[in-house]
Amino acid sequence: MSMRTLYLQADAEAVSRAAEVIRAGGLVAFPTETVYGLGADALSAAAVTRIFEAKERPRGNPLIVHLADADKLEDVVARVPARVEGIARRFWPGPLTLVLPRATAVPLMTTGGLETVAVRVPAHPVAQALLHAASRPIAAPSANRSGRPSPTRAEHVREDLDGRIEIILDGGPTPVGVESTVLDMTSEPPTLLRPGGVTLEQLESCLGEVRLLSSDADEAAGRSPGLRFRHYAPRARIVLIEAGTGEEAVVPLLEAGRAVALMVQRQVAFERPGLTVRIMPADPEGYARELFGTLRELDSRGMDAIFVEAIAEEGLGRTIMDRLRRAAS
Ligand code: TXA
Ligand code: MG
Repeated sequence: MSMRTLYLQADAEAVSRAAEVIRAGGLVAFPTETVYGLGADALSAAAVTRIFEAKERPRGNPLIVHLADADKLEDVVARVPARVEGIARRFWPGPLTLVLPRATAVPLMTTGGLETVAVRVPAHPVAQALLHAASRPIAAPSANRSGRPSPTRAEHVREDLDGRIEIILDGGPTPVGVESTVLDMTSEPPTLLRPGGVTLEQLESCLGEVRLLSSDADEAAGRSPGLRFRHYAPRARIVLIEAGTGEEAVVPLLEAGRAVALMVQRQVAFERPGLTVRIMPADPEGYARELFGTLRELDSRGMDAIFVEAIAEEGLGRTIMDRLRRAAS
């Protein structure tokens, strides 16, 4: 499975070429406002199978189906519950994915064997242009090798998928930096399956009550298949520590001669041989934009361990902490 991957600036000509590739059953990585996605024709089991192969993704982990517009929902969803309309109008296009009953047109390969389908209308102009040009739903997981941090730059996609896909559309860094929020609309109240670019506070203000997944791991994995798999992990060991404890925490490994990174949200007046400090933005929006890129960058510097100080769990901070916990586990 080796091919020449075209790496193209995402101008109009590149987008129409990419749309042809999608229509022919091929694979195209493209920017969305959250992270880069690895797209294929969502209604073609053969095309979607290639996504799983390129990413080395477990077959049971379902894909998100991307639409150009909410008025295309009927193409992929069997029934659109009434309360979906308000939430779609408020958050689409944008970083929210809704889990709904699957239309039979969507192959089980796309939904990981489930009778539900996850759907999102992305806001990024390149994603929009590609969906319009391909004029069909596009299944797209994050465009990383399975288990690696999601790509927020075209360069990250190249690191993971070069030689395995037809085209990478480079549309610059993605503006949100963490994946979409996944909300299961088949339960009452709706269940938050994955925190993401739309915050819990925003969802609650629109829907009233939102159910959080219980911490019971089996129940959680049954509802949200993605939780079963290792995620967001660079090669280095990630250690999540309390805010303000970084200086103490890194000492033992440094004394053992290891290369250690420390990610904090504050100034640090502490230098040691072998220590790399990364000061992350104080606002959660800025932190989210830099999170995955920083993990990849530290990894490429061959760190043995990355110590990360916990941040406040409100707004996007909840999403960031979710990703850090998964990366650390
Ligand atoms: O921001 C995003 O969501 C990006 C961009 C490319 O849109 N995509 C993305 O896809 O993050 P992926 O495959 O990395 O994550 C999809 C998540 C997984 O946790 C998966 O288990 C969950 O959505 N999911 C997909 N279909 C589902 C379904 N029918 N029921 C429950 N969870 C589902
Ligand atoms: Mg992913």
